[in-house]
Amino acid sequence: MPLDMTPEQVLRWYIEAGVDETVGTAPVDRFAVTAARPAAAAAAAPPQHARPERPPAAAAAPHPHGDTSAHVTSAHVAAACATLEELKAALLAFEDFAWKRFATNLVFGDGNPEAKVMCIGEAPGPEEDRQGVPFVGPSGKLLDRMLASIGLDRATNAYITNVVPWKPPADIRKPGPDEVAVCLPFITRHIELVDPELLILFGGAAASALLARHEGINRLRGRWVDYSSPGLPRPVPVMATFHPAYLLRTPEAKRLAWRDLLMVKKRLEGAG
Ligand code: URA
Repeated sequence: MPLDMTPEQVLRWYIEAGVDETVGTAPVDRFAVTAARPAAAAAAAPPQHARPERPPAAAAAPHPHGDTSAHVTSAHVAAACATLEELKAALLAFEDFAWKRFATNLVFGDGNPEAKVMCIGEAPGPEEDRQGVPFVGPSGKLLDRMLASIGLDRATNAYITNVVPWKPPADIRKPGPDEVAVCLPFITRHIELVDPELLILFGGAAASALLARHEGINRLRGRWVDYSSPGLPRPVPVMATFHPAYLLRTPEAKRLAWRDLLMVKKRLEGAG
């Protein structure tokens, strides 16, 4: 940054670099923070839940979205994680993802990792980034109500995460093929380690990334498909539905989302 800039030019410079909020007035040494993170994450990791050992992930496989060096790295890093705590620490240490530089926090997951139901969204928003917790902003409030309508809540019987665990920079609305390619090995391993009985994918970005399909959410939602991965003991039934952020903008689509959620409820009750 040139030293003779006016305050307005400095602000513009930051905005163009993707900075969309200020979070403090004291300077932070980011190099020191980065170096300390993996150890801190390991120390702060919640106790390991008593679960049987997960089968190892398959060796890093190429993905149709792309085979960049960052994707190859993420695939190897993710495959080496044997627990959720290791996966979280690996993500905290992973530096090969541009969005991470503009994010305040890793948004890893929330809820009960022992739950039967795993919900996956697209990427955190500003409030999620601030708190480091998925779906706590306006669309998260609606998500909680949607889950409650079928007897689910993140405190007891649902686990929530996103395909991309870092907030997009200010000028980017959703993850593109490059971001998906890098994050896919991590979310795949995340699913394997949680090993849910049922997956709900919220929005087209999550559905097309995880189902490796190019159709939009209107075509992918409302029917059961299987999700398979070499590290899962069996295929997991998946229901894709509309993203709560879309439903906030398009309330008339709530009727269809409700239909999708009822299918989930029936399946959980053993009747679907
Ligand atoms: N939208 C998402 O897809 N995920 C979040 O965590 C918040 C908003």
